[in-house]
Amino acid sequence: MKTHFILLLIGAIVACCASAHAVQDNDSLDPTALRCEYLEEPVGVDSRLPRFSWRVESHRRGASQSAWQVRVARSSEALRRGKAELWDSGRTAGNDTNQIEYQGMALKSGMECFWQVRVWDEKGNVSKWSEPARWAMGLLNEQDWKAQWISCEDDASYHKDRSKLHLPAPRHYRKDFTTKREVKRAVVYASALGVYDLYLNGERVGDAYLQPGWSDYKKRAYYRTHEVTEWVRSKGKNAIGAVVADGWYSGYVGYGLLVGYGPDKVGRYFYGKTPAFLAQLEIEYTDGSRELVVTDESWRVTDGGPTRESDIIMGEAYDARMELGEWALPGYKAKDWERAVLASRNPRIDTVYTDRAGRKPVNLGFEKPPVMQSYMAPPIVATEELPARSVSEPEKGVFVFDLGQNFAGIVRLKVKGERGTRIRLRFGEMLKENGMVMTENLRRARVTDFYTLKGDPEGEVWSPRFTYHGFQYVELTGLDVKPELDAITGIVLHNDTPLTGEFECSDPVLTQFGKNAQWTQRANFLEVPTDCPQRDERLGWMGDAQAYIRTASYNADVASFFTKWIDDVEESQLSFGAYPDYAPYPMAHGGSGKSFGSGWTDAGIICPWTIWKVYGDTRMLEEHWDSMTRFMEWRYASTAVNGLGTSLGNPWGDWLNVGEKTPIEFIDTCYHAMVLDMMEEMSLALGRRLEAETYRERGEKVAKAFEAAYLNEDGTLKVDTQTAYVLGLSVGLILEDLRSEAAMHLAGKIEKNGFRMATGFLGTRSLLPALSEHGQHELATRLFQSREYPSWGYEVVNGATSVWERWDSYTKEFGFNGANGKQNAGMNSFSHYAFGAVMEWAYRTLAGIDTIGPGYRHVLIHPRIPGSESNPDNEVVDWVKARYDSINGPIRSDWKVEDGMLRMNVEIPANTKATIVLPSKDVSQIKEGGALVRLGEHFHSIDSEGDVTRLLVGAGTYVFELPFTR
Ligand code: BGC
Repeated sequence: MKTHFILLLIGAIVACCASAHAVQDNDSLDPTALRCEYLEEPVGVDSRLPRFSWRVESHRRGASQSAWQVRVARSSEALRRGKAELWDSGRTAGNDTNQIEYQGMALKSGMECFWQVRVWDEKGNVSKWSEPARWAMGLLNEQDWKAQWISCEDDASYHKDRSKLHLPAPRHYRKDFTTKREVKRAVVYASALGVYDLYLNGERVGDAYLQPGWSDYKKRAYYRTHEVTEWVRSKGKNAIGAVVADGWYSGYVGYGLLVGYGPDKVGRYFYGKTPAFLAQLEIEYTDGSRELVVTDESWRVTDGGPTRESDIIMGEAYDARMELGEWALPGYKAKDWERAVLASRNPRIDTVYTDRAGRKPVNLGFEKPPVMQSYMAPPIVATEELPARSVSEPEKGVFVFDLGQNFAGIVRLKVKGERGTRIRLRFGEMLKENGMVMTENLRRARVTDFYTLKGDPEGEVWSPRFTYHGFQYVELTGLDVKPELDAITGIVLHNDTPLTGEFECSDPVLTQFGKNAQWTQRANFLEVPTDCPQRDERLGWMGDAQAYIRTASYNADVASFFTKWIDDVEESQLSFGAYPDYAPYPMAHGGSGKSFGSGWTDAGIICPWTIWKVYGDTRMLEEHWDSMTRFMEWRYASTAVNGLGTSLGNPWGDWLNVGEKTPIEFIDTCYHAMVLDMMEEMSLALGRRLEAETYRERGEKVAKAFEAAYLNEDGTLKVDTQTAYVLGLSVGLILEDLRSEAAMHLAGKIEKNGFRMATGFLGTRSLLPALSEHGQHELATRLFQSREYPSWGYEVVNGATSVWERWDSYTKEFGFNGANGKQNAGMNSFSHYAFGAVMEWAYRTLAGIDTIGPGYRHVLIHPRIPGSESNPDNEVVDWVKARYDSINGPIRSDWKVEDGMLRMNVEIPANTKATIVLPSKDVSQIKEGGALVRLGEHFHSIDSEGDVTRLLVGAGTYVFELPFTR
């Protein structure tokens, strides 16, 4: 014991001597979680001024950062020696921990950079330097690309028969090469017009799916960066290869086949006919010399591999008898393989392309993407496996596996059987009454995989690579005997956005709905925020995304995912300034000049605004400012003379409302006002005062027009729908002194409707916030807890594990035919996140976690606790536990009402402050940690106003207790 103490003492003395002010005890403030461009140790960074972020952690209340220092070097050893040849920020006063721009020496293509940070706390104590973190630059200049786009020789005509599916086999590419010296570092930069998997020396590189990603390939292509140092053999023989499938480039996309878009209306070839591949392997030897292995005509190609069909929405077919053996190893005899050609050698294919905008001439031949951009978002990977829960045999030889969860991804098939046996897998979200998989809602998406056995006595295991499905059930046919349960395992795929939110409360139905929303988000954050993962759609629908984005940000860290998608959105901007219905935008859905809709087009403003609010990201605003300004000019120019909105665009409006149609002009007016407000706020954040003034003036004009056209003196509206009130209230167009009146009208309408909502995508998103904000919180909670159609709870009590597209996607009375029995079962997804947007209210209002100003630097904890009378139908919510891992660290708000007391546990991350709002005006009754709350060290201000007390606190955990009757 004594020796231990002495050792500790010596340790402490040594630590003190090492750095006069360094604090290393429990009280210290330490930088952790170093990220560059929102990603951990990213490779392929193509921003010349990458941004850093870290978190500071401390066990001490009120801990904050008063200064920071970042240094950047070419190696971690250099940093350890205290050398920062690229950048040393020096001690920089301030509490910023994110959006910190690199300001050192010019960064070059391919450069490896190492950085570390140390911070000073509010007392001036400096931390240790963090462990070094690494990032690597991508290719910054067009000239850096020495590789050429390659393809197979292809002068065949394209598929023109819309009545038949055309599913060409992916192509394998390969090349042998020899390294001459000791390899120090090897990196592959790769891209495809199509989707690719990269191989090195026999193995697939990395775990990402559907690379490089979806963009308008005629304008821009993404590339990926693969660190392959460990895979390349020094002084020896190597092989590089790839499998390249159609993907979004030339495969079936969206509902193109259903409605007959594309060349000859075949629903495919939206960007071109024949996939192409680009790869550049850069080898750096230990002696400093370099060597490149690039795609060119020396590569070989074949379409003869085992994958016979491969399409994102149609499915994949694999014939294990055709496996190519060791094709990706050096020395493979590629006998029947052809010589690859430069993609540019293939002929132009001039034809006519059709969509709703009309007919236009297109070239389906190769066109080199003019811009190569690094993919700077978490890749699509397998994030979880779902073992099958049961297998049934509803018809002879038809085996149906239940994976217990509706999700998006693929399966792993494990079988044993005779060579040549062909297994068919079909996928569905629901079962019919007869136990068969329901596939009507897949429309023209075939969503079928095939596997032909090679007859391995040890058994065979297979998973597709270039497709995904949205499903819970798998139908397997082709086997004579009932397979084991482990024949099918679900593999969950999505962009790996780290989960950040947890919500639980005393009503298990709501807890389950929160989980369903998170699952539905995972099922749809696949490359772009899609509307649904199962049918022939899967497009980045803008209305859905804007309604849901704030909820998305509670559930997961979506900063880089949206940073990437907002680039796609800008790229899709229509020539006259509107943002289209979805992005990317391969096919026009509306007539000429009509491919936008109120509330959908506005996603181009609402999404960047939300990312800025949640992550404090002003760079996104700056980068898209021109585009956003163009949009706003179009939006302003397209208003009526008096400033009211118009119905120029597509008629989605309050899409999927329940029998209450709100005129598009009304919706358009509200959304215009909303984005004007946001633009004013963002202009100020960027120091663009004149623009802010213009947006403010325009906002006033729209508000006046709204008032004159729609508002009655008693707070009622001339458009008498729930959604009209919701929008008028949430956008603030209803005059302030009429808002509570208006909210009462809204409440009255809901009551008259049997305490049911009638809202669609746009109204639902803001319904509960509008009620809670304007004196109708009890009703908001009652709606959230409802189990009656239409409600969130109705889905849960009907067994939902995901969020449905329609309130009546399934009803007990009419199954998949909606509440009236006449619904089109084909247009009926069980995985649409839009109505899940209510979870924003669950986190923000019920749990009360919010940000004051951008970036959660000033946290707001203001839970709204429902009164005892709030719910005659269900037990009133009496506890909530919510956690949100913000950009600055974890925030927690747990509350519980019990025995006339309210107990609250709150956690505020280091280096932030918080306003905590408690439901009592009597400060003398509020205890924290057992003691009465007092102005001083922990409570910087205490204000009682109305029925609440506001406490301003610093970081830390707090345990409150106060008498509370409801
Ligand atoms: C999609 C929606 C989308 C809508 C536009 C649908 O087909 O699935 O979620 O927003 O079209 O009305």
